[in-house]
Amino acid sequence: MAFIDLLRSRRSIRKYKKRTLDQEAGDLLAEALLRSPSSRDSESWEFIFVDDPELLRRLADAKPVGAEFLAGAALAIVIMGNDRSTDVWIEDCSIAAIISQLAAHDLGLGSCWAQIRLRPHSGAMTAEAYVQALLGIPKNFRVNMIIGIGYPDESPEPVPKEEINIKKIRYNRF
Ligand SMILES: Cc1cc2nc3c(=O)[nH]c(=O)nc-3n(C[C@H](O)[C@H](O)[C@H](O)COP(=O)(O)O)c2cc1C
Repeated sequence: MAFIDLLRSRRSIRKYKKRTLDQEAGDLLAEALLRSPSSRDSESWEFIFVDDPELLRRLADAKPVGAEFLAGAALAIVIMGNDRSTDVWIEDCSIAAIISQLAAHDLGLGSCWAQIRLRPHSGAMTAEAYVQALLGIPKNFRVNMIIGIGYPDESPEPVPKEEINIKKIRYNRF
């Protein structure tokens, strides 16, 4: 698929077939992630591939709303940034996240982003602290987002070209 057609047809997918991920697809996703650009080549990101059904269910509880779909995913990629390696770990992680989503779409997989950074788990705990405790992640490996991935069981319509917000593009001056 041409890259522009990949972008045109990508939508967030939150419903997945009950099917485990093929090994080859998992390997290609790992390679795509590790080819992400990072500031000064710091590779400040770290990734945990979660495919254990019980852990997926518990990741879905990381925050009160917006992470439910992780329970039905074949794979959740937990994306962490080492805040001791660079001051732009958020940017590094975000780039890796979108690369994983585009790579997943290219492989015929569906994906959706679950925001973890800055989100509460409950009154007393952040979603980030919950995920760190669940997966044994050290404090300086900051959990930014989790990408849920699986074989799509829904097919939202692509956004038609007439609906993209062309006013967001300005030329030369605001
Ligand atoms: C920074 C960021 C955070 C997001 N957080 C969530 C989330 O927590 N839960 C969720 O279901 N979708 C989340 N999304 C997915 C967006 O809701 C989705 O991309 C947006 O509605 C546009 O839909 P589309 O991806 O189908 O084009 C997030 C996306 C981004 C880029």
